[in-house]
Amino acid sequence: MEVVGKDIHSFQETVRDHSEYDFTQYSHTSLRRRLTRILLELEIDMDALTVRMRNDGEFLEGIVRKLTVHTTELFRDPEIWKKIKVNLLPTLQDKSTIRIWHPGCSTGQEVYSMMMVLEEQDLLEKTEIYGSDLNPDVIKTAREGTYKYHFNQSYLENFDRVMLNGTGTPSWSQRKYWKKYFHIDETHDMIRMKDFLRSKPVYKKLDLVKDPNLFLVKFDLIVCRNVIIYFNNELQNRVFDLFHSNLNEQGTLLLGVHESIMGPFSKRFIRKEPFYHKAPE
Ligand SMILES: C[S@@+](CC[C@H](N)C(=O)[O-])C[C@H]1O[C@@H](n2cnc3c(N)ncnc32)[C@H](O)[C@@H]1O
Repeated sequence: MEVVGKDIHSFQETVRDHSEYDFTQYSHTSLRRRLTRILLELEIDMDALTVRMRNDGEFLEGIVRKLTVHTTELFRDPEIWKKIKVNLLPTLQDKSTIRIWHPGCSTGQEVYSMMMVLEEQDLLEKTEIYGSDLNPDVIKTAREGTYKYHFNQSYLENFDRVMLNGTGTPSWSQRKYWKKYFHIDETHDMIRMKDFLRSKPVYKKLDLVKDPNLFLVKFDLIVCRNVIIYFNNELQNRVFDLFHSNLNEQGTLLLGVHESIMGPFSKRFIRKEPFYHKAPE
């Protein structure tokens, strides 16, 4: 079932006209892949999908939730987390309160990684952590902080690299160390984050296409990784504007390893690999 350009346009228009969401400024590459998968899964063609989306709001909501990519992991890109730990967090330690926002936080592993690194630096207590996503299902999982162990074993390798400066081959003796942050139940194939981490963040559903900053505070650090890669240039600029105006003076933005600021906002940040620091006004 081949999804062509006009199918994507018509799909984007149907979603925009019949829901609160707007994917008209998303890049076609990812939408095409997801749409193809949805059609195969439901065993219907584009016309039938469009008719159902127009007539059934709940169905449309379900399609939107299938549309976005939620891939994430604990300490994803460990080298970046080492730089957060060694180069960035020490610059925030004199602040009385540190505020960090994770837009597009998906199921929360990035938020938990940040809290663990903060705790290692003795900074967690004075930090306010905010997480948001377009999709309420992933926010629910983030709040629960419970993940499949089997699927997430590489978490432990990342944990070893970032938190213990290891080589990524954790030994069983390190279990004691993990226990501070999460409980592993192999029988039930489960990793569960400790309550002091689960109860800390404030989460909100927030759509970067149209919502303002719903947290009503400014941030020292915004971590938005692997989200704007799905947006076209116009939407990326809208999001950079939102981030720029909600960062404190000298605040920092961190994007994904394959993402960068191009266009007008590149002058308003100072790039110090991998970070973007807000340039003085
Ligand atoms: C690939 S995940 C990235 C998760 C995490 N930041 C990381 O890098 O591991 C992308 C997330 O962005 C969210 N997203 C996509 N479009 C969004 C939008 N318009 N507003 C807010 N979140 C959005 C998706 O729901 C998904 O959870």
